[in-house]
Amino acid sequence: MKTYLSGIQPSGRLHLGNYFGAIRQHVMLQDTDAEHFYFIADYHALTSVRDAARMRELVRDVAVTYLALGLDPEKATLWRQSDVPEVTEISWLLSSVTGMGMLERAHSYKDKIANRIKPSVGLFTYPVLMAADILAYDTTHVPVGKDQVQHLEMTQDMAGYFNGHFGDVFKRPEAVLAANDSMAKVPGTDGQKMSKSYGNDIWIFETGKPLKKAIGRIPTDSRAPEEPKDPSEILLFDFLTLFLEAEELKDWQDRVRVGGVGAPGYGHLKQRLIAAIDGTFGGARALREEMLADPAEVDRILARGADRAREKAQAVRDRALLACGLR
Ligand code: ADP
Ligand code: TRP
Repeated sequence: MKTYLSGIQPSGRLHLGNYFGAIRQHVMLQDTDAEHFYFIADYHALTSVRDAARMRELVRDVAVTYLALGLDPEKATLWRQSDVPEVTEISWLLSSVTGMGMLERAHSYKDKIANRIKPSVGLFTYPVLMAADILAYDTTHVPVGKDQVQHLEMTQDMAGYFNGHFGDVFKRPEAVLAANDSMAKVPGTDGQKMSKSYGNDIWIFETGKPLKKAIGRIPTDSRAPEEPKDPSEILLFDFLTLFLEAEELKDWQDRVRVGGVGAPGYGHLKQRLIAAIDGTFGGARALREEMLADPAEVDRILARGADRAREKAQAVRDRALLACGLR
């Protein structure tokens, strides 16, 4: 039996990059014949979120976002990472057999240092906790974005070190990348990769004036609508590709390529994009509002998820403790 697992940090409002690069895959996978585990990585977020009320709000927001976008808590287990503290025990066991050199080579750590983020020990050992998250549930498949592949390789290595010393305790997981490469990297409103740390992101549930403003920021040039253009050089099309059916997309592209009186201007393309975003997420947005009005139900879903997750993590933790002589 396959076991899918992934985690998402509650470190800000989730954006279109998170949706197309992660959440959508997670929601689609729940209908495949396998076990499905998704958690909100609050222990990990503690390396950057330093406000208790904000942390609670962000965790609930991630939960509501997943549920509103279609994650079914009957099909997939959804919980808060810190509700299963067994992962921190497993993290300690893994750290005891993991060399410093491997963590020093982590891109995520090196990038943060390069961006002058003052490192905590937790930021340095982040990949060990992530490995524990994965190994604690006998995970076989981890759907993540490309940026997480190195962490997966490190997880495989850590499982190998532990098993090498103590016998066959941890299952070897593999990464599952988004099938379509164009969706593997959603651009931001400035053309770079969309990321909350670049301030170029569009919130999944943005609507009305703020959505108009965000789309308005996508750069265009001063060429007239009549002038024929290459659609592949127009950033707006990278966004439209995410939302439109192939036939409609092709029609817009053809009209832009040909130019003349029938060609749409950038304003038209932006209007179409706004309508498409509203159309795609309108239903989920309404659901989100409903769920936010009943936070106790969301908390119940997370608590039930934690119970299910804990049962599994405890068994793996016990197996690991026994194998290394701590029981
Ligand atoms: P951010 O860069 O905004 O901090 P995270 O690193 O928290 O986003 O990403 C959470 C998940 O969303 C990861 O699985 C990541 O691969 C995916 N993701 C983030 N940004 C993008 C993007 N621009 N395009 C595709 N996937 C993305
Ligand atoms: N590091 C992941 C990210 O930043 C979040 C994460 C934590 C995760 N633990 C995980 C993802 C385990 C997959 C599996 O996106």
